Amino acid sequence: MDFLDFNKEVWEYIESHTSREDPVLAALNRYTHLKVVHPRMLSGQVQGKLLEFISRMIQPSYILEIGTYTGYSAICLARGLKNGGNLITIEINDELASVSEKFFAEAGLTDKIEPVNGNALDVIPLLESGIDLVFMDAEKEQYSRYFELVFPKMKPGGFLLADNTLWDGKVVYEKEFNDTASIALRDFNKMINENPKTDNLILPLRDGLSLIRKIRE
Ligand SMILES: C[S@@+](CC[C@H](N)C(=O)[O-])C[C@H]1O[C@@H](n2cnc3c(N)ncnc32)[C@H](O)[C@@H]1O
Repeated sequence: MDFLDFNKEVWEYIESHTSREDPVLAALNRYTHLKVVHPRMLSGQVQGKLLEFISRMIQPSYILEIGTYTGYSAICLARGLKNGGNLITIEINDELASVSEKFFAEAGLTDKIEPVNGNALDVIPLLESGIDLVFMDAEKEQYSRYFELVFPKMKPGGFLLADNTLWDGKVVYEKEFNDTASIALRDFNKMINENPKTDNLILPLRDGLSLIRKIRE
């Protein structure tokens, strides 16, 4: 058995010992794999459960998601909202809205999730401040820019989760991987780690999930 097989088997073990998706998330996962391009972008069972746990632990009133895709992570995150809270999710590709909105309705979350069609770089500056929890999961080349825009809108003590920050491990190997996304994510990780206003860790789950806490303005 080589290292990759070992990792694959460990991952299968983790999946089989993590709570199953409920019928709505299972249907959304299946639909996305059958009908939508790039289904690997969907968070999936294990990461989705982690997002739900984090949200339930924080009990946020105001969540921002950057990059809706078919809505899987938005549903997981919205489940932890405090009563009366809401989640704004931004997606640039308007062809995905019919899918995500259908599943938000099936999950009974239409009144809690506000989908916004547009470029996050244009939308974030228009949002109200006081965000408790951000999930950043759109264009990797723009992570540092999203952060600059969203950080001032977060509450002190608020959390930001950034997906794909290990980028298949490519961020580690500077000589071998110099594509724009690897460089941008390397710069983002460095910037966050050197930022005196944040506390942070990279969780080696799937493609790397950074947990970032805003310590102060
Ligand atoms: C990795 S997918 C999101 C997956 C989703 N969060 C989940 O876990 O199921 C990234 C999404 O970000 C969208 N996106 C890319 N650039 C964007 C931008 N500048 N503003 C808003 N959405 C963007 C893409 O169209 C794509 O649907």
